[in-house]
Amino acid sequence: MSETSTTPVRLTRKPERRTPPGPATGTVPGSGKTACIRTFGCQMNVHDSDRMRRMILDAGYAEVTRYEDADLVILNTCYVRENAVDRVRGHLGELTRLRREGRLKKVALTGCIGAAEESETLRHQFGIDLVLGTHNTYELAEFVGLPTMEETYTPELPGTGGEHSAFVTIMTGCNYGCSYCVVPMVRGRMVCRSKESILSEVDRLVEGGTGYVTLLGQTVDAWRRDGERFCDLLEAVAERAPRVSFTTSHPSNMEDRTLWAIGSRDTIVKRLHLPVQSGSDRMLKIMHRGYKAERYRRKIGVFRDAAPEGTLSTDIIVGHPGETEEDHEATLGLVEDCSFDSAYVFKFSPRDGTEAATLGEPVAPEVSQRRFVEVLRGIEGNAFKRNSRKVGSVEELYVRHGANEDGRAIGETWTGHAVHLKTEANPGEYVRATIESAGPHALYGSLCGSPYGDLAPYGDV
Ligand code: 5AD
Ligand code: SF4
Repeated sequence: MSETSTTPVRLTRKPERRTPPGPATGTVPGSGKTACIRTFGCQMNVHDSDRMRRMILDAGYAEVTRYEDADLVILNTCYVRENAVDRVRGHLGELTRLRREGRLKKVALTGCIGAAEESETLRHQFGIDLVLGTHNTYELAEFVGLPTMEETYTPELPGTGGEHSAFVTIMTGCNYGCSYCVVPMVRGRMVCRSKESILSEVDRLVEGGTGYVTLLGQTVDAWRRDGERFCDLLEAVAERAPRVSFTTSHPSNMEDRTLWAIGSRDTIVKRLHLPVQSGSDRMLKIMHRGYKAERYRRKIGVFRDAAPEGTLSTDIIVGHPGETEEDHEATLGLVEDCSFDSAYVFKFSPRDGTEAATLGEPVAPEVSQRRFVEVLRGIEGNAFKRNSRKVGSVEELYVRHGANEDGRAIGETWTGHAVHLKTEANPGEYVRATIESAGPHALYGSLCGSPYGDLAPYGDV
């Protein structure tokens, strides 16, 4: 699943004081308590944070963005790579200091680190008050003073309604066993939610004003239930929601008909995130990915035929144990052939309990670093070329993020490109813009008929 890096959840809204359904056991709504949720990792975690946010709001907490203003801090964490854990350790250190100064009362650690054994060590080291894994998020309810919930199946917990865009979890866990990955250990085996339950959530969201639904799952395209497969579900959702996208897919589950549906359905954003991890068949086998590079290339060929203007992204790991220069060259070759629009490139990080952590033949750090840079350069070169082709076109944009202090908002084209532009339109609104310039990571546009034609790219060349 794609990384959102350390993404602090937007927590600026003061909650309405809602009365919890039933007798609350602790916090009294309206009692002035505050909570801060910080999210690390993938969109699955962002979505889990949304659910926890619902609980803390229901319990009468006000949301705050700064640790020092919070009575309760929830760190919803990622365990996929060691640097994610290091970051969380840094935050826990800061929280311990604040608590010693009496500026903070309680700390909860949730998410993938919470589900790993290492959480016990962290609990003792930092005196954490509550540790929850990914399958018992519902226990937060009791901790914040709501009636005990007995949900065992997290997708049934409500997500957030009333937002312009929303995630809908359609499956949790993963049945693959990639050599390097902790996800099956911390998220468990695949559980697919029923189509009926998914569609009723989509209906509820759309009725409540949500204009953009993202279907979510660790291997979202592996969804199957009652004789139906992911494409059937996607098409049903695309009939109901005005704008739809999904993440993350696995190449072995991606059917051609899904790729054609992306290309042909007006309400589906023409974007595909399909992690390849390596371009070498030898490495794909060692990683237990279950496909060869040629099959991946063929799928990409279908996607490019189905949605020629669409955007394609991927995940790549460099420096997995045993990766030779020849394997690396094969990855660079695949990067050229697939001409990705963007990619998340990771240096291999050994994770306890995974097969890769026990394999010999480690790749030296300086070699990994060089390979990392080479892959990134290849990706950026192609992305810049592809983005440049959009210059001059007029696009309908869905505003994802409203204007920041210097007036720049971020919109998304129907092809899944991010466009920076000046507009006062609110998130969830559509605007029309001309693409003025391009960088490797984004496009820069101006509203049709607006005076902002001088918007200069920043960050990009
Ligand atoms: N080391 C480096 N990258 C990893 N990923 C998963 N596990 C590891 C690891 N141990 C990457 C994969 C996956 C993405 C979410 O994180 O590329 O697709
Ligand atoms: Fe991890 Fe592989 Fe499952 Fe993706 S498919 S979550 S990389 S085990």
